[in-house]
Amino acid sequence: MSRKFLIAGNWKMNKTTDEALDLAREIHAEVGAQGNVQVVVCPPYTSLAEVSGELESSQVAVGSQNMHHEPSGAYTGEISAEMLRQSFISFVILGHSERRQFFGETNESVNLKILAAVANNLKPIYCIGETLEQREAGQTLEVVRTQMSVGLANFPSDQVDNLVIAYEPVWAIGTGKTATDEMAQEVHADVRAALQEQFGEDAANGVRILYGGSMKPENATGLLSQPDVDGGLIGGASLTSRAFCGIVQAAIDHGS
Ligand code: 13P
Repeated sequence: MSRKFLIAGNWKMNKTTDEALDLAREIHAEVGAQGNVQVVVCPPYTSLAEVSGELESSQVAVGSQNMHHEPSGAYTGEISAEMLRQSFISFVILGHSERRQFFGETNESVNLKILAAVANNLKPIYCIGETLEQREAGQTLEVVRTQMSVGLANFPSDQVDNLVIAYEPVWAIGTGKTATDEMAQEVHADVRAALQEQFGEDAANGVRILYGGSMKPENATGLLSQPDVDGGLIGGASLTSRAFCGIVQAAIDHGS
């Protein structure tokens, strides 16, 4: 089955609203008209509304970097799925390793967010991946399998089309160290096997599995050439239009 490549930029805690709008305008101009590769940008909350306004007339979708699982209530500093929907947000990154590491998120708490996201017509980009210690101990596939089974518990099978998985080895994030093409493929194939066991072969074959961790224009083609790598979740290289659109272009070239 052919899956459309998805290239998503996770801007993390970078860009004031003015800077975010500048970057969104550049991305709009460079890759906003094409639809061969799906492009998503995930700015900080403070510029979600402005960036989605700028990109409304383009093919580029907008995502959030997190959300709370409850619809409303006394959760100071948090933001709900419905609030995101009102800003025309269509994707939400959930379970990023930085949220797990610095903000105490677990497979169980991320599961609640994933279920709330799909119940509100948001497409979750569910992040999984092992630490260096876990890789060196030979635990990679076991860790990823647990993240998959607990994080996706009770996931409604009629929503599988809206699910995106991002495999981000923690040791490759922001370090300049990229998984080799083969290392990425090995885990992606196992993630797809886990999806097959949970949802059946047809549904699993439609799910995009992104790679994340020091992806840049120079290494994008090799990673995207792997059969189960369906795009990228880009951190550092998503902060300039030159690098980000370079990765989008690599995906366009590879897909055509
Ligand atoms: P880098 O591309 O900076 O390694 O970050 C990857 C990432 O965490 C995307 O979510």
